[in-house]
Parts: sequence; structure tokens; C-alpha cells
Amino acid sequence: SKRITIAIDGFSSTGKSTVAKRLANELEYVYVDTGAMYRAVTLYMMRNIFVSEGNLDKEAIIRHLPFVSLRFEYDEELGYGHMFLNNENVEKEIRYMEVSEQVSKVSAIPQVRKMLVDQQQEMGKSKGVVMDGRDIGTVVFPDAELKIFMTASTETRAQRRYDELKGRGDEVKFEEVLKNVKDRDFMDSTREDSPLRMADDAVEFDNSDLGLDEQFEKILKIAKDKI
Ligand code: C5P
Repeated sequence: SKRITIAIDGFSSTGKSTVAKRLANELEYVYVDTGAMYRAVTLYMMRNIFVSEGNLDKEAIIRHLPFVSLRFEYDEELGYGHMFLNNENVEKEIRYMEVSEQVSKVSAIPQVRKMLVDQQQEMGKSKGVVMDGRDIGTVVFPDAELKIFMTASTETRAQRRYDELKGRGDEVKFEEVLKNVKDRDFMDSTREDSPLRMADDAVEFDNSDLGLDEQFEKILKIAKDKI
């Protein structure tokens, strides 16, 4: 069997990463969570106060990009790579609401995208990769053999995200999570550089009414047909 590139794109909290991780483990492929990369850059810029509520110092962000070093370190127990920002494990911190609220602004900056897209293309160049994000099938790997575009209703997505955050013990309100999901969808799909959209040759996959196992089995079958 041949090793292919699998691109999984879609709106916020559609469950892309859950399926992508499982698919990568099953096929023994590398999994790359590109959202984690945008989140880590955002966290770095927040710590240096170049971005905060109502403020974005684009020039400072661009100037400091060379000081941001990212890598994934595989965690045997969990079965996926944790995000390291300048050698610090930030896997947990990048999921906080504070970061979710700023990430789409930072992700809209072309220089940020260029740096991360270059790194993503490098990580996937030997194929055998499952990458999830917003622009994988359109920009990062337009030649990917398999492109999935995940969708689910806004309410379903906000509820899943809320349950996930609550389950981790975060103090969040449902309304706040719903607003964040809507805001990010809007910003991600209306930005000028690489807006979120479905690639013409992508398979649209609505998982509003599917359980995790059902989703996984369906996508695995689609993938196996390509391999
Ligand atoms: O996938 P996740 O929800 O963690 O992504 C966080 C944010 O990072 C998105 O809302 C989007 O602004 C940005 N992103 C992006 N391009 C990608 C992946 C994520 O712009 N390929």
C-alpha cells in the first residue's frame, strides 16, 4: 500500500483532531495539529503583550516571529504529539479560552501563515501524514490524495467544546464558548489570506448526528479506498 497525504479541514470544534489522531494511529501516519501551531504563536505574542483584548501590534508580531520555535513531541501514553513552544510544553495552555479569543487575529497575519505553512509542508513532505486545520487542502497540500471537510451545526460544536473544557475543570460559560466558536468561524472564513473554505475536490462530512466510532469507521473506509 502507498503512503498518502490526508488533509482534514473545517470550522472550529468540528472534531477534526479527534478523528485525525485516531486515523493517524490506525494507519501509522504522523499527525500534525496545525491549530496548535497557530495557538502557540499566539500564546508567545500574548505573553509579550503584542496581542490582547482590543489590541494587536502587527509589526511587533512580525518582528518577533524568528524567536518562536515550535515542535511536537510524541507522548507514548496519549498517542499524539504535544506542542512545545521554545522547549516548553504548552499543550494545555494553548487550549485556554484566552488564547482561543486571540488566535484568529494572529492567524490572519500573512507572515505568520507563511512561516507556519512552510513548516507544515516540511513536516508532510515524506507523505504518510494526517494534518488538520483550515487551509490544508487549499493551501498547504493542494495535491493531497484525500481531503475531508468536516462540518457540524454551530450549536453542536459549541456544546462539544463546552463539555470538553468543563471536563477539564475550566470555568467557562456556554454562551462564551458559543460566541467564540461563531467569532472564529467568521474571522477564519472572511480573512484575506487563505480563508477557510472547502477545496473543490474535498469530501464534505457532516458529523452532527454521528458518534465518534461511527465517524471514525466511515472516514477510515474512505481513506483505505485511496491507499
Ligand atoms: O484547530 P484550532 O481550533 O485549534 O485552531 C485555532 C485557530 O487557528 C483557528 O480558529 C484559526 O484561526 C487558526 N488556524 C488557521 N489555519 C490552520 C489551523 C488553525 O488559521 N491551518
